[in-house]
Formats: sequence, structure tokens, C-alpha cells
Amino acid sequence: MNESILVTGGAGFIGSCFIRHILSNEDVNIVNLDALTYAGNLENLKSIEKNPNYTFVHGSIQNAELVKSVCEKHNVTSIINFAAESHVDRSIMNAHPFIDTNVLGTLILLEVVNELKLKLMLHVSTDEVYGSLGETGKFTESTPLSPNSPYSASKAAADQLVLAFVHTYNTPAVITRCSNNYGPYQFPEKLIPLMILNALEDRPLPVYGDGMNVRDWIHVQDHCEAIWTVYKTGEQGQVYNIGGNCELTNIEIVKSILKQLNKSESLIKFIKDRPGHDLRYAMDIEKIKIKLGWSPKINFEQGIKDTIQWYINNPQWCNNVRTGAYRDYYKKQYGEM
Ligand code: NAD
Ligand code: TYD
Repeated sequence: MNESILVTGGAGFIGSCFIRHILSNEDVNIVNLDALTYAGNLENLKSIEKNPNYTFVHGSIQNAELVKSVCEKHNVTSIINFAAESHVDRSIMNAHPFIDTNVLGTLILLEVVNELKLKLMLHVSTDEVYGSLGETGKFTESTPLSPNSPYSASKAAADQLVLAFVHTYNTPAVITRCSNNYGPYQFPEKLIPLMILNALEDRPLPVYGDGMNVRDWIHVQDHCEAIWTVYKTGEQGQVYNIGGNCELTNIEIVKSILKQLNKSESLIKFIKDRPGHDLRYAMDIEKIKIKLGWSPKINFEQGIKDTIQWYINNPQWCNNVRTGAYRDYYKKQYGEM
């Protein structure tokens, strides 16, 4: 019988990429448990929804009974946890859903892993747990956690719980921490898809502060391949940094999108900075490279070109995700521009 993996949050940006990728390349069963929040979208999984190795279950990782019964019913042997509230700006508006899903939800999953004696839980985390860098240096796996936003604080709390379970109960778990992802199917509240869609419609491109904040960008496909590598070969109790070796300022990204779309830089609108805005993230990925033999393959120039083209080719997807709820959020965050 095939191995069965419970993927949580598989209708989101990264989880759906992971499911599409794994079902095309591996002979495993995937059960996708997703609460379908504003960020969860089953259209992301249209291409594989009829695959006999795929099952979707609508529900929350905060529901212990449900998680347990899904694992039992589908003979789940391991969990890969993508489920999260993932947007910093929303966490600044209201931190509660972040604690509920990112912290309490992770706790529920860890308890189920212990109770059902599952083989592994891979917990997907972020470079943001390390806080902010100055002009130099990089985050390694031993950099102390120093989160600055309610989002990153909730992710750091979850990471600490995972490590505490490994230490206390010998829970078989591993953590990946990745830098900023981009690629197809990303919800247009994050920098890159928001800027692409606004530019396509000749709407202002809202850049926080002076646009000099730096992020380390990785294509979502590279991230998913790294997760699979850690899932297959990572060592229990370890943390693995994942990154794209591609540091760019926000203004460089925005200008490159405008250039490729042949749009004027006059669309850029500098707006009030994000409160507590982290200056710079950069990942040291030597550990995963040396120990597990993974490194990123997609260079940013090609990756961003393909991503822009994907948004141009999929206007229906873009219209469908910009629901009433999205419009309300956009108005609250950016006002009338
Ligand atoms: P996303 O917001 O696109 O998707 C999150 C998914 O989780 C959605 O499908 C949503 O419906 C689901 N979800 C939310 N609450 C849930 C709950 N209580 N129970 C079950 N499902 C629930 O996020 P993403 O960008 O795909 O991020 C996935 C994971 O990767 C997150 O844990 C995030 O912290 C992490 N991460 C993201 C990035 C990035 O750049 N996007 C970088 C590093 C790490
Ligand atoms: P984002 O995509 O929200 O990811 P994160 O905050 O998790 O890194 O933002 C990436 C960078 O882009 C971050 O420095 C904030 C900036 N940004 C803007 O300047 N304008 C925007 O409208 C958004 C959404 C982000």
C-alpha cells in the first residue's frame, strides 16, 4: 500500500504547489485538510482533483477529533503542515486568528502525531522567526529567534512547540524555514502578485516606506522540492533553512515588474511604512546544501518572467480570488489610492 501523507493547508499558495508537484512525481497518497479561509482556493488544485491518490477534506487543524479521524480513516503515516495565517499586514490588524491556527493548530497536530504514533511531522516555517538583519550577515539555523510581527511571533511559538515536543516526548518532527516565495497561484495580497495585478490594470503600486527593505526570494517550486528532500532525508529534531540566494530590495522588484510589463514607473506610490517593518532577511542555506544535497534551481530573472506571464494568462483565477472579502481588506489596508 502507498504511503499516506496528511498535507494541511494544501489549498493555499505553497501547499497546492507541493501537492501538484508530488502527485506528478511520486506514488504516494495525499489527504489535503484545509479550512478554506480567504487564502484557500480549490481552483489551485483543479489539475489533480481527480487523481485517485488525492483526497480533500474540508476542516481545521484546530479540530483535534477531525484531524485524528482523518488520519485513522486514511491510514496516514505522516503530516506536512502548511496550514497557517500567513500575511504580516493582516496579523497587524488582528493577531487572534494567527495564534489560533499557527500556534494552537500546530499543538493539535503534534498531539495527534504522539497519540497515533505517526512516523513524521514536517512543520513548514519561515525565515521571519529570526527577526531582522542589518546591512550584513545571514540567518543560520542557530540564529536566536527574535520575531517582530504578530505573524512571525506566532510562527516562532509554533517552532518552539515543535522543538519542545521533540525534546520532551521524542516526537518525530522536523522544521523547514524558508525565505519569501513567489510564483503562480499566490494570493494578490503579497508583494509580487499585488504589484503584477495593479500594474496590469494601471493602478498605483503601493510601496511601503522607501522601498529599501530586502527579502531573499525563492521560486515556490524550489521551496516544494526542498520540503520533499527534507521529508525524505532530513534528520528528526533538526531545522533546515531554505532560501533562494537572491536578495533584492522591494523597489528593485517593483521596477523590474513594471519594466517587463512595459509600464511607467510613475505608477509607483510610496506609502506610509508598515509598523515594525523588518529591514532585511537573508538565509544561509549551507546546511541543507551540504547535508541533504538540495539547492535552488530557478533563477529570479526567469522565475519572475514566467510568474508575470502566468498572471497574464489566468485572468479568471485572478478575478475569482479578488472576492468581496479581498476588496474590503484592500480598502482597509490601502484606502482610496
Ligand atoms: P497561504 O495563506 O497561501 O495558505 C494557507 C492555507 O492554509 C490556506 O489554504 C488556508 O485555507 C489554510 N488554513 C488556514 N487556517 C487553517 C486551519 N485552521 N486549518 C486548516 N487549514 C487552514 O500561505 P502560503 O504562502 O501557502 O504559506 C504556507 C506555509 O508556508 C505557511 O505556514 C507559511 O507560514 C509558510 N511560509 C510561507 C512563505 C511565503 O513566502 N508565502 C515563506 C516561508 C514560509
Ligand atoms: P510580503 O509579500 O507581505 O511578505 P513579507 O512581509 O512576509 O516579507 O511583503 C514583502 C515586502 O514587500 C515587505 O518588505 C513589505 C513590502 N510590501 C510593500 O512595500 N507593499 C505592499 O503592498 C506589500 C503587500 C508589501
